[in-house]
Amino acid sequence: MALEHNYPLQTLNTFGLSAQAEHFARFQSIEELQNLLAQAERPLMILGGGSNILLTQDVKGSVLKNEIGGIHIIEEDDQSALVKVGGGVVWHDFVMWSINKQLGGIENLSLIPGSVGAAPMQNIGAYGSEIKSVFEELEAVHIDSREVKIFNNEDCQFGYRYSIFKGELKGQFVICSVSFRLSKIPQFNTSYGAIEDELKAMGATASLESISQAVIAIRQRKLPNPKDIGNSGSFFKNPTISNAQFESLKSQFPNIVGYPNGQDKTKVAAGWLIEQAGWKGYTHQDAGVHKNQALVLVNYGQAKGQDILKLSQDIQASIQQKFGIALEAEVNII
Ligand code: EPU
Repeated sequence: MALEHNYPLQTLNTFGLSAQAEHFARFQSIEELQNLLAQAERPLMILGGGSNILLTQDVKGSVLKNEIGGIHIIEEDDQSALVKVGGGVVWHDFVMWSINKQLGGIENLSLIPGSVGAAPMQNIGAYGSEIKSVFEELEAVHIDSREVKIFNNEDCQFGYRYSIFKGELKGQFVICSVSFRLSKIPQFNTSYGAIEDELKAMGATASLESISQAVIAIRQRKLPNPKDIGNSGSFFKNPTISNAQFESLKSQFPNIVGYPNGQDKTKVAAGWLIEQAGWKGYTHQDAGVHKNQALVLVNYGQAKGQDILKLSQDIQASIQQKFGIALEAEVNII
């Protein structure tokens, strides 16, 4: 299988940033990946939907794009179905498939950009659901030995926007397929207030379809569509601080938004902090902070990765100064 050289990545990252891969190839099966791993120049970068990366420079070495397809029910009973999905499948296409088959568990995760293979990497989550609650196992290829290894739920060490593939095993495995246990018995999760409100406004009762439609409507209102405006969803993670620090901030900023996270920690809405610091809607040349959701940095067309990076650093410095909180990027900076 041939690798291409000086390959443009602009259409392969949702920020729409212009950068080149020194070498580039796509793979559609584990065997093709194993062949590529045997010959591709290092370093390696594995690309999924390109929806969680900020390209600040050309990429040295080889970029390999996962295009392994297929959605198959491999086991089922009265209560659930085990579904195996190729890592290259578009996440939202899988969500739409599940709703069509009346299989529950990922409807709250409608319209999240990216691919199925990238989803476990950071345990994607939204509107009160995370994939760890439906995740059964994944199949990954070890980059050095080219052997296939299976990881179950516990092996992945899922946390908030975290898995072992972002920690201890970073850069060591390529996730090729993921299996999910989806439910045939309706168990809707409308705990996230905005979903209840949206269902009411739609005049709908909870169902897989209506929840998915509610989530899609909320997301479309708040989050820019990468097809229109380049972005990578939330650029920062919501930071976790001590309850003591939260209380002290609350006395200064009574409207600060935070949620209990364990016994002595509070997760703070980074979007609120960024908005309060005056950044919402800010633009400098073509790099900006989205007007409806301050957690999302955007490329209005001609921004460079370095411009977005600089903006993110300025925001981090300003949040540190105003609130004493260190914001951490959620996207991978390359
Ligand atoms: N807020 C503001 N100003 C803003 C944005 C938010 O004050 O500009 C406040 C909101 O009013 C709300 C709170 O912050 O009280 C939380 O906002 P929202 O419900 O929109 O969620 P979020 O914390 O900003 C997280 C995820 C999103 C996910 C939503 C919904 C992270 C980093 N982001 O955002 O995920 O869709 O919850 O569950 O955890 C993504 O990861 O790319 C992503 C979009």
